[in-house]
Order: sequence, then structure tokens, then C-alpha cells
Amino acid sequence: MSLCVLAYLVTVMSMINFKVEKLRKDELKEIVELDRMCFDERIVFDRKIFQELLSNECCVNLAIRKKVETEDKSEGKLEDKSGYKKVKKTKDKLVAFAIGLVRDVKENDVNGKEGIVLTIDVHPEMRRLGLGSMLMNSLEKEFVSRGCKYSILTVQVNNHAAISLYEKLGYRTIQKIYKYYPTNEDAYLMLKVFDVKDN
Ligand SMILES: CC(C)(COP(=O)(O)OP(=O)(O)OC[C@H]1O[C@@H](n2cnc3c(N)ncnc32)[C@H](O)[C@@H]1OP(=O)(O)O)[C@@H](O)C(=O)NCCC(=O)NCCS
Repeated sequence: MSLCVLAYLVTVMSMINFKVEKLRKDELKEIVELDRMCFDERIVFDRKIFQELLSNECCVNLAIRKKVETEDKSEGKLEDKSGYKKVKKTKDKLVAFAIGLVRDVKENDVNGKEGIVLTIDVHPEMRRLGLGSMLMNSLEKEFVSRGCKYSILTVQVNNHAAISLYEKLGYRTIQKIYKYYPTNEDAYLMLKVFDVKDN
């Protein structure tokens, strides 16, 4: 078996374990922590902003979780020096999330709804497994089902990983916005118009 086939099989096998679900309000702490792992502290969203986005009906909040083993010390038979029995349990850990916003637009020659990708965060140890693509595909599906004609987003001009992901999914740069971020970095405004057959 060639290395390429093996790499492909490993990716497919790992994807089977992941599904896109709804992001929950009780995950706020994990969301804030993951966001801090993904972005410069000067551009991360504030905890309060996340709280508002999670309660906003116009938002599409998506999550991918991974089962991790935890060792729970519960009282029981003496099995180690501490006098506690170690019980193995699994819990869901948030490893990636995306938040989008559906907005009514009545400007210039646009009259309808647009989808805005507000953030997409994949845990550093979980990258290049297709999770970012899964989240973007689900976000776009939801945008389309809510009547959006297109999706837009902004990205730091030096964020090559994200730009590459977006281009692969069919986004194109329509504008460069100078000093867009609090860090004074420039941004690209990127757009993807949905096919009529998507609507
Ligand atoms: C950008 C990000 C969301 C990508 O998530 P991901 O799960 O690694 O993306 P995927 O595995 O679905 O990658 C899909 C494609 O994107 C491109 N890509 C992703 N990471 C890349 C990298 N580091 N370098 C080059 N291309 C990359 C590749 O074309 C990749 O396809 P391939 O793996 O078959 O070559 C992730 O790196 C991340 O969370 N970064 C920090 C937060 C961030 O920058 N968010 C975007 C803000 S606008």
C-alpha cells in the first residue's frame, strides 16, 4: 500500500469519529480557552461576546467534540495507596467550533440574506484532519437553508492556513482592508456565492 493511500485511509478513519453538532451555552469556558489557543490575545473575542453569540437566534453555532478518557477517583475498594478506586470514564472535549451569523442585507444592489463566518477554531493538535472543512461545509449548508445567497468572511493576510482552506472551498478575495485588526494587521474580505442549485 502506498504512503498516499495509507495517509488517505488514516484521514478517513479519523473523520468517522467526528461529527458536527450544535455548540452549547454550557461550553463557554472551553470556547474561550480554545479561542485563546487559536488567536493572538489582542484579537480574540471577549467572553461576553461569545455569550451573546451563543444566545443569538441569527447565529449558527457549530461544534466538533472528541471523546477523551478521564480518571475519576471515586470511593470504593482500596485499589491504590490513596484508598480510592480509579474509575475510567469518557467525556466529550470540544476540539473545534465555528460561529456564523445570518444577516438581512438591503444595500447597494443586494436585497436578501448573507452569511458571515465570524470565527472558526480548530485545536492546534487537531489540525489538518479535515475538521475545519467539515465545519465550513456545515456552516454553509445552514446559511443556504436559512436563505443566504452568499457567505463572506475576513481573514488576516498572513493567515495562510485559513486562506488556503477558504480558497479550497471556493472563496475568493474581493477586497483588502488595511489595518482591519486591533493589531494593525490587514485583512482580506473573501466571498463565496452559493450556486442556485444550493438554494
Ligand atoms: C484555519 C484552520 C481553521 C484550518 O482548520 P483545519 O481543520 O486544519 O483544516 P482542514 O484540515 O479542513 O484543511 C483543509 C485544507 O485547508 C488547507 N490548510 C489547512 N491548514 C493548512 C496549513 N497549515 N497550511 C497550508 N494549507 C492548509 C489545505 O488546503 C487543507 O487541505 P489538505 O489538508 O488536504 O492539504 C485552523 O488552522 C485553525 O483553527 N487556525 C487558527 C484559527 C484561525 O486562523 N481561524 C481562521 C480565522 S479567519
